[in-house]
Amino acid sequence: MADITVTEHLLLHEKRSPHATGRFTGLLYDLIVSGKSIARRINKAGLLDILGGTGVVNVQGEAVQKIDDIANRLLIYRMERCGAICAMSSEENPDLIRVGPEFPRGDYIIIFDPLDGSSNMDVDVNIGTIFSIYRRPAGRTGEVTLDEVLRPGMEQVAAGYFMYGPSTMLVLTTGAGVHGFTLDPGVGEFLLSHPDMRIPEHGWIYSCNEGYREKWGPAAREAVEYFHKAPSCKGGAYSSRYVGSLVADFHRTMIYGGIYMYPEYDGRPNGKLRMMCEANPLAMLAEQAGGAATDGRVRILEKQPTELHARTPLFIGSKKDVEAVNAIYARHAK
Ligand code: AHG
Ligand code: MN
Ligand code: MN
Repeated sequence: MADITVTEHLLLHEKRSPHATGRFTGLLYDLIVSGKSIARRINKAGLLDILGGTGVVNVQGEAVQKIDDIANRLLIYRMERCGAICAMSSEENPDLIRVGPEFPRGDYIIIFDPLDGSSNMDVDVNIGTIFSIYRRPAGRTGEVTLDEVLRPGMEQVAAGYFMYGPSTMLVLTTGAGVHGFTLDPGVGEFLLSHPDMRIPEHGWIYSCNEGYREKWGPAAREAVEYFHKAPSCKGGAYSSRYVGSLVADFHRTMIYGGIYMYPEYDGRPNGKLRMMCEANPLAMLAEQAGGAATDGRVRILEKQPTELHARTPLFIGSKKDVEAVNAIYARHAK
């Protein structure tokens, strides 16, 4: 079979997608260049003095690793110049970044977690970049306002992630299924390796940070305990896996099925994960692959974000496993 690149796939195989336009493929092209630049630096991390922290604490109250900062700068630089974007938001920046008049502007809005799982960087474990793309509401011109960005995940036109691991991957949806591409370093292109990815209906792995169990409320506890006792799709007990990089834990869930859980806990009523740059894009991918994503009460894609850095509890993966959690939360709500 001939090699199929991402752009070729978008133009030839997703013809029905309204986003298979020149502008969108241009955006994607520049996003891919950013992904490749980040991957290249990560591959050489131990040699380049980019491990460890910057000494700065970000808007989320978390220590910024050097690689967070490098990935963030690379993405902002390239997205600002790609001609398809009018505004962007990053996990690392408190405010909306509007593309200035010195650059060509388009009508897409991009939201990203430049480096996800950065605390795993120093131990050479898979990390990633997560992105979510919206289109500006029709008829809007001039300076982008916050309400144009604070929209439910259902309105995303594309979403995906790069994963920097044994190989570098791009997993992408433009609303016509989910497709996985692997970087061929010799060719310098992401080539189609995982066409039409589907999350199994029922899985055999549950994934969460059980170190927080004493802080969880009764619904979260019962949800996790359900997976200690319920039969998995294989008939036996569920296995437990937790990388601590959302991209890596989600990627495994995409392929093997099962469930990833980051519930709310004492002191953090909305959990830790960011709605706009983490939960929404992964929820779009999960649903496009036949899976589901909820906060225990509401479908993630229906939630209205109230601020750029809003957080949400997240239960995501195989439909049957996510439904089991919804049923437990519904019982506790009574
Ligand atoms: P980030 O590196 O972008 O700040 O994200 C870290 C997130 C996510 O990748 C991971 O699933 C989660 O934090 C792990 O959190 P805990 O250490 O609380 O389990
Ligand atoms: Mn993250
Ligand atoms: Mn991050």
